[in-house]
Amino acid sequence: MASHLRFQGRCGLVTGAASGLGREVAIGLAVEGARLVLFDRDEAGLAHTARSCPDSVCIVGDASSAADVARAAAALSPITLLVTAAGMLGPTVPLPEVEEAAWDRLFAVNVKGTWLALKHIVPTMEAAGRGAIVTFASGAGLVGNPVFPAYAASKGAVVLMTRSLVAGHAAQGIRANIVCPGPIETPMLRDSFAQAGDGAAAREEYTRARNPMGRFGTPGEVAAAVLFLLSDAASYINGVALPVDGGRLA
Ligand SMILES: NC(=O)c1ccc[n+]([C@@H]2O[C@H](COP(=O)([O-])OP(=O)(O)OC[C@H]3O[C@@H](n4cnc5c(N)ncnc54)[C@H](O)[C@@H]3O)[C@@H](O)[C@H]2O)c1
Repeated sequence: MASHLRFQGRCGLVTGAASGLGREVAIGLAVEGARLVLFDRDEAGLAHTARSCPDSVCIVGDASSAADVARAAAALSPITLLVTAAGMLGPTVPLPEVEEAAWDRLFAVNVKGTWLALKHIVPTMEAAGRGAIVTFASGAGLVGNPVFPAYAASKGAVVLMTRSLVAGHAAQGIRANIVCPGPIETPMLRDSFAQAGDGAAAREEYTRARNPMGRFGTPGEVAAAVLFLLSDAASYINGVALPVDGGRLA
């Protein structure tokens, strides 16, 4: 019978652990035995998550800062589980209206931030001879999105960055997969509606109505998929971009 402690004895790094999906994944990993580095720029949110993650280490920092990510990567050893959930929505305007500074910040957090985590953790996994990685993209990283096109571009980059790891690192026992959530009930989803201003209620209704299941997902539904992909039950699943979206992209 499979142990209910799938990550006993393992160390992991979860970015974006102070809120939403990163928090839910971190708590799930901790409940199943992992010892974690919890990384986020939100110190209070990290402390909140840490209360449910025994023996975890909190590192406050910016996902786009090489020095901050290096500090997180060095906080426990060997880290053989990596989840990159730190991310931002950025501007919800058509591409020609995106400000250059907003574009740069979005790509610094979503794309460079994911790369930095991979850069600092993959060598540790190579040395350990094992590793499981889940990066966070989005359904908007698999098909174009007219509401937040810059975000979609950044998440598309996360998908192919992650897939590009696979061939070069499978021999060292490292697997890397991507989750592509649809609309999940977190602060980021609420922010995406709020950015529509007076149209917030209409945007929320439109998003709910075009989902085949007629509802938003829960953080627990995404965390369940992430924990599966990280676990040995997914030992032959590598390089997959898995939608967790109620069938939105079906
Ligand atoms: N909620 C959704 O509907 C949805 C859908 C698709 C993809 N996603 C992705 O899932 C991931 C988690 O999103 P969420 O919904 O939990 O959002 P959230 O806003 O609740 O959590 C995001 C976390 O990332 C942290 N973060 C943001 N920028 C950071 C930075 N520069 N450095 C360090 N930490 C930073 C925030 O402080 C926050 O704790 C994101 O990558 C997001 O793009 C979410």
